[in-house]
Amino acid sequence: MKKIIFFFAISLLLINCKTTPEPEKITGLIAEKAMVVSAKQEASKIGAAILQKGGNAYDAMVATHFALAVVYPVAGNIGGGGFMVYRDKDGTTGTLDFREKAPITAHKDMYLDENGDVIENKSTLGAHAVAIPGSVAGVFAVYEKFGSLPFKDLIQPSIDLARNGYVVTKNEAEDLNGAADRFKKVNNYETVFGKEWKEGDILKQEELAKTLERIRDFGKDGFYKGETADFLVNYVTELGGIISHEDLEKYEAVWRNPITFNFKGYKITSMDLPASGGICLAQILKSIEPYDLSKIAHNSTEYIQLLTEAERRSYADRAHYLGDIDFVKVPVDSLTDTNYINKRMRSFSWDKATPSSEVSQGKILGYESDETTHYSIVDQFGNAVSVTTTLNTGYGSKVVVKGAGFILNNEMDDFSVKAGVPNVYGLVGSKANEIASEKRMLSSMAPTIVEKDGKLKMVIGTPGGSTIITSVLQNILNVTEYNMGMQESVDKARFHHQWLPDYITLEPNGFNADTKNKLESLGYTIFEKNSLIIGRVDAILVLPDGKLEGGADKRGDDAAVGF
Ligand code: GLY
Repeated sequence: MKKIIFFFAISLLLINCKTTPEPEKITGLIAEKAMVVSAKQEASKIGAAILQKGGNAYDAMVATHFALAVVYPVAGNIGGGGFMVYRDKDGTTGTLDFREKAPITAHKDMYLDENGDVIENKSTLGAHAVAIPGSVAGVFAVYEKFGSLPFKDLIQPSIDLARNGYVVTKNEAEDLNGAADRFKKVNNYETVFGKEWKEGDILKQEELAKTLERIRDFGKDGFYKGETADFLVNYVTELGGIISHEDLEKYEAVWRNPITFNFKGYKITSMDLPASGGICLAQILKSIEPYDLSKIAHNSTEYIQLLTEAERRSYADRAHYLGDIDFVKVPVDSLTDTNYINKRMRSFSWDKATPSSEVSQGKILGYESDETTHYSIVDQFGNAVSVTTTLNTGYGSKVVVKGAGFILNNEMDDFSVKAGVPNVYGLVGSKANEIASEKRMLSSMAPTIVEKDGKLKMVIGTPGGSTIITSVLQNILNVTEYNMGMQESVDKARFHHQWLPDYITLEPNGFNADTKNKLESLGYTIFEKNSLIIGRVDAILVLPDGKLEGGADKRGDDAAVGF
């Protein structure tokens, strides 16, 4: 009899297994030793090939950065800027700021008309929108401090790719065709980008190849001085812009201390000002740290509520307090202090949304601001590099330097061009982020490294303008609190709130109707658009056995390559 019951029980179990199979666990590329994850397969391959040749993560950074400038013109760049967070094999961490700067002759009201109103598109489109590029100085700062292979070996694959061309993807053809009219409007000659492109076409950039050759042969001066600088200054001037040779010659990348904090036993290292990413991540994670997330289902009403309310308060502080630390006094310690944050969250109620109109910056005693790209690299020696870089919006200002073939940023729009007036990401700012000569504009970038028990755990970052912070946040929580693998985490639907405008943005089809209805009944406004994507996270997770798992965002053509 016992045997029959046992058999019956086993049969039931088997039937049950058959009818409700365990969903297959999503995994990204697994590599034994080293990996590069970036927005394009070609760039990840070039970076990984450098690692395979014995180069380190910093060499691969140089190679990947130049490759993205060729094969990912929407955001990869030499005419933009960015930030790098690294963790060396010896455990030391640091950051590099190669953010663009306002030109010397820039001033607070440069985008306002005689009535003090913002002139439409002036800070986003064309030569006036361009800030002094930092990427080439950044790459050389990294190479001079950490590089190990000959520089020419790192840049040559990108020169070849620019000269011989690369295959345009479907996404890219759509992006390029979408921007073609603006390329035509801004430039006074026929650029390679302002044409009709289709999937499978070969995009060649001979002028860019020559510019990269000058950088190969003359180093940083191959960009900031000589022929390339002449091309840049002459063309920007021809189009009415204000960049001078002195602006270019004076540009320096800056090594800065990272912002480092603990969250539930994890050590998080991220970018400090002029990027707001690290401060906001610290504020939001500390706001939710007292809550037991094991009792709150992932992407449930309660989860979205909690993160939204923490984000609302942090972005309100961002708008008021944050700006270039070299120009304004920012109370970073007070803003990230646990008591201050707990006090900010006291007005949070599970019963109803806190309207943003009732939230402003917190009170700090004694205290008198989409298109970017991210790549993550881990090498076979244990070095980790997290880099976010951008032209600001897709293809930046759309200015393609005549004779030199590269696109210039429109990063000036990341300043608060007028207090309280939203920028292209809907972010508002105040005095702390107003324009000043040679100041760096506030960024949302958040290249981040996570450690556990003194060991590297995750390298992460994303593009997405104001949504950068909340995308990185959700992926940190997916992995640390919800035990997801890297690809599984990256694939998950994301949401975003930034204080103003006062709504929650949801990626389409990722959230069920019941969750949305409940949020609305609590007083939240939902914004969900068909084609919307939030971030394109490219990340690497160190698995318990020491192998690496890549998370390459399926929202784009992103790819992980490793060995
Ligand atoms: N340009 C977007 C950012 O830096 O936040």
